[in-house]
Amino acid sequence: MESKDSKLAQVTATIAQLGSMDVSDPSSQVDIIRQCQLVINSLKDPRVQALETLSSVVTLPCLASLSNLGIFKKLSDEPVTAAQLAEQCGVDRWLVVRLMRVATAWDLVTEIGLETYTATEVSNVFASPPGAAGLRVNQMIHKLLDSLPAYLKETEYRNPGNTPKGLFQYAYQTELGSFAYLGQDPEYAKQFNTFMTIQRTQGQEQWTEKFDLASRVFDGVTIDQNVPLLVDVAGGVGKDLSLVKKSLPPSSTASGQLVLEDQGHVIDRVPTELQDSDFKYVKHDFFTPQPVKGARVYMLKHILHNWSNSKALQILRHTRDAMTPGYSKIWILDGIVPDTGADKTVAALDIGMMGIHGALERNEEQWDALLAEAGLKFTGLCVLEDDGFGIIEAVVEV
Ligand SMILES: C[S@@+](CC[C@H](N)C(=O)[O-])C[C@H]1O[C@@H](n2cnc3c(N)ncnc32)[C@H](O)[C@@H]1O
Repeated sequence: MESKDSKLAQVTATIAQLGSMDVSDPSSQVDIIRQCQLVINSLKDPRVQALETLSSVVTLPCLASLSNLGIFKKLSDEPVTAAQLAEQCGVDRWLVVRLMRVATAWDLVTEIGLETYTATEVSNVFASPPGAAGLRVNQMIHKLLDSLPAYLKETEYRNPGNTPKGLFQYAYQTELGSFAYLGQDPEYAKQFNTFMTIQRTQGQEQWTEKFDLASRVFDGVTIDQNVPLLVDVAGGVGKDLSLVKKSLPPSSTASGQLVLEDQGHVIDRVPTELQDSDFKYVKHDFFTPQPVKGARVYMLKHILHNWSNSKALQILRHTRDAMTPGYSKIWILDGIVPDTGADKTVAALDIGMMGIHGALERNEEQWDALLAEAGLKFTGLCVLEDDGFGIIEAVVEV
């Protein structure tokens, strides 16, 4: 453990170093945030930091209540008071004050004066449908993770994975998998799908713009026009496939070249505004043989982190069996956990996957091993976002 003096010397050095960093350079921003966080934590009394960590438990329920009251949507650059919000919502002013205190303490809402607030960019996220849906979905996860200590104790601290009775089954007292169980609740399914679009808010740079998608599809091969170009396996309602289409020359995405696969109830509910007459829609269970053979690319985005290794292997093997060696490739778009220094979001996502699906977020070594077991050869990866989201490419091992 460091002495107080050496801690202070380190803080002084970090602050001096921060002064020379370019805040406008996106590639330095993650490092700047991390260094600032270290400075803040070093200056805090450890008991205060411990208490703050414990206090974070109230954040989600308070934000969910504010969202249920529609308060995030009522905030703007125009100041609004607790009394005005209370009147508009038909609730006690003190309730608004107390809930808003949590939001302002976390810098999610700006408190510009006594009981007077303006919006922030973060409160605007919570005001949006994906942000509001995120609060509902995370309430379910929160409830589930409450049972984690008891579950781990009862299962003698085995790393949850390939067992039929995971935390979800333990907490909900069900034999069903989480997808099947939650799929019975159409309202939850709707909220979940809305939450999943949070990274694709208009105006943000999309993942497809962060690498040369077309060259990865076309370079080094003669395209076989007789088979589909790209299959989005479990592609949801097709938002990613639309992004892929925009990144490819129109001549290559004509009728049937892009295939959207998912469970029947998802394909049946593709909203009209997302339907594309060029897409081929296929109802497919990825634990059964892949029906589209020999495509150039099979894309699996945010799929495998939902499944334990044994289930992920089934999905990958069915995909490999459909691939043409020397021609087809697989793109796994998922988290790639850094070996050291994983941030709070990545760490939380991994535990969320453990809780909901008995699954995990994987690092490069784990991806490599999983692919090798499925008879696929890892050919490279590229991290696209600060949270570790990236693309892993593989081909059939010959
Ligand atoms: C986390 S979502 C990812 C959706 C999409 N790829 C994306 O990135 O937004 C997981 C998807 O897997 C689908 N799914 C779950 N079980 C499936 C199964 N047995 N067969 C096919 N799709 C399945 C769900 O319907 C859902 O669309």
